[in-house]
Amino acid sequence: MRLSNVLSSVLAGATALQSVAALPQDLWSRDTAAATAASFTVSPKVFIISMFTPEAETWYGIPEFDLLAINITVPGLSMLFPDVHCTDDGEICQLTTGEGEINAATTIASLVVSPHFNLTQTYFMIAGIGGVSPEVATLGSVTFARFAVQVALQDEFDAREIPENFSTGYVPFGTTAPGQYPTSIYGTEVFEVNAALRDRAIELASTATLNDTDAAAAYRANYAADPEYAAGASGPTIVPCDVATADVYYSGILLSEAFANTTTLLTNGTGKYCSSAQEDNASLEAFLRAAMHHLVDFARIIVMRTGSDFDRQYPGETATQHLLYDHQNGHIPSVTNIYLAGVKIVQGIVNDWDKTYAAGITPTNYVGDIFGTLGGTPDFGPYASGAPATKRSIQARRRPM
Ligand SMILES: *[C@@H]1O[C@H](CO)[C@@H](O)[C@H](O)[C@H]1NC(C)=O
Ligand SMILES: *[C@@H]1O[C@H](CO)[C@@H](O)[C@H](O)[C@H]1NC(C)=O
Ligand SMILES: *[C@@H]1O[C@H](CO)[C@@H](O)[C@H](O)[C@H]1NC(C)=O
Ligand SMILES: *[C@@H]1O[C@H](CO)[C@@H](O)[C@H](O)[C@H]1NC(C)=O
Ligand SMILES: *[C@@H]1O[C@H](CO)[C@@H](O)[C@H](O)[C@H]1NC(C)=O
Ligand SMILES: *[C@@H]1O[C@H](CO)[C@@H](O)[C@H](O)[C@H]1NC(C)=O
Ligand SMILES: *[C@@H]1O[C@H](CO)[C@@H](O)[C@H](O)[C@H]1NC(C)=O
Repeated sequence: MRLSNVLSSVLAGATALQSVAALPQDLWSRDTAAATAASFTVSPKVFIISMFTPEAETWYGIPEFDLLAINITVPGLSMLFPDVHCTDDGEICQLTTGEGEINAATTIASLVVSPHFNLTQTYFMIAGIGGVSPEVATLGSVTFARFAVQVALQDEFDAREIPENFSTGYVPFGTTAPGQYPTSIYGTEVFEVNAALRDRAIELASTATLNDTDAAAAYRANYAADPEYAAGASGPTIVPCDVATADVYYSGILLSEAFANTTTLLTNGTGKYCSSAQEDNASLEAFLRAAMHHLVDFARIIVMRTGSDFDRQYPGETATQHLLYDHQNGHIPSVTNIYLAGVKIVQGIVNDWDKTYAAGITPTNYVGDIFGTLGGTPDFGPYASGAPATKRSIQARRRPM
């Protein structure tokens, strides 16, 4: 099937139309939206989720497939990135959410209810850049998460007003000191994805030769002074480790350590913090809600983050110098490696579709959110011995006003 032919017949009368980018305005204004909505459905095998332009552009103009063959405008996507882009056979699609938790959640929530997509068997690959911990990874590293943790969902005090006996200004909701397990749970604190799928993704990505640059190598060499940062001082590799989500673009040893601690706390010691980004929990929450209604399969999500910068300064440098003034030079290898590693995963899924991926990769770990919404027993959080009595009661357990 060539999607362009299908779309041309949908738009009978509109000759020489190569794209449906202009479709909504056209059809909406003719008030035939409802009729059009069901007139074509794309069932992608792989859907790449980018968060901003450089992460998207690394996929355009590549030799393996042409994502700009078809554009489908979906209401609810960002005004900066209004279209889903697909190959002409509809097997591979990509969109850009816009940055931060609000943009990610809104875009994914809109995608999953679009009548133009059947996403029940689709593999989603969140493929973005992020900050990395030099204790675990480096500039250009390609990390794959099992846990995504919303680390800034906490009380926060300015550093100048932190009590002497607090290790950080972040205090979990409903508690009175850093490091205590939160008693007020929003439900988006932690998501766990399919570790068996993650391991396959790592295997596929490991066949790629990763990119690096002399400038990135020169910056990471600064980390060699601390033996704890051996991973940061070495060249980029593929690393299984977990991602922290926060709209706050934090930087520095203390905040990074505080959020690594939060990741450990919220995953009950299983999660291994290594990267930071601004969207993953938000996208995962929207996917989770869609999975509740069988619109997507939550066990078909891959979370990949490549290292564009370090989350903390090197020995002898200040946190502000590191983030605000230094050129860390990780941008080129990070966006290049999204493509180099990611294309192996996309091709692996498409090529082995019938044999392996159509049926799904059965998870052996718990998959889902902190509430146990999708069934199964969370291996983190307070609801291991059973779902909350009522989910409403959790929401009611807010701090007294
Ligand atoms: C799809 O949109 C992109 C810009 O986002 C454009 O470069 C490309 O030419 C469009 N493709 C078609 C078939 O119109
Ligand atoms: C979506 O695709 C699945 C798998 O091919 C199929 O079983 C299902 O009927 C489709 N749903 C719709 C609404 O077309
Ligand atoms: C994001 O998800 C991770 C794990 O999936 C969770 O630990 C974290 O609390 C979440 N963060 C937000 C802000 O939702
Ligand atoms: C910090 O000190 C305050 C008052 O001095 C005390 O009430 C509180 O329990 C202490 N907190 C911790 C975490 O030690
Ligand atoms: C990495 O990518 C950049 C930008 O495309 C390129 O200039 C450089 O030669 C690449 N380095 C390696 C080692 O492939
Ligand atoms: C992180 O946790 C460790 C171990 O509990 C503690 O020593 C350290 O002070 C914490 N760091 C921050 C910044 O909270
Ligand atoms: C995780 O840790 C919290 C706080 O200590 C505890 O209440 C909860 O039962 C633990 N959950 C699991 C699955 O171990």
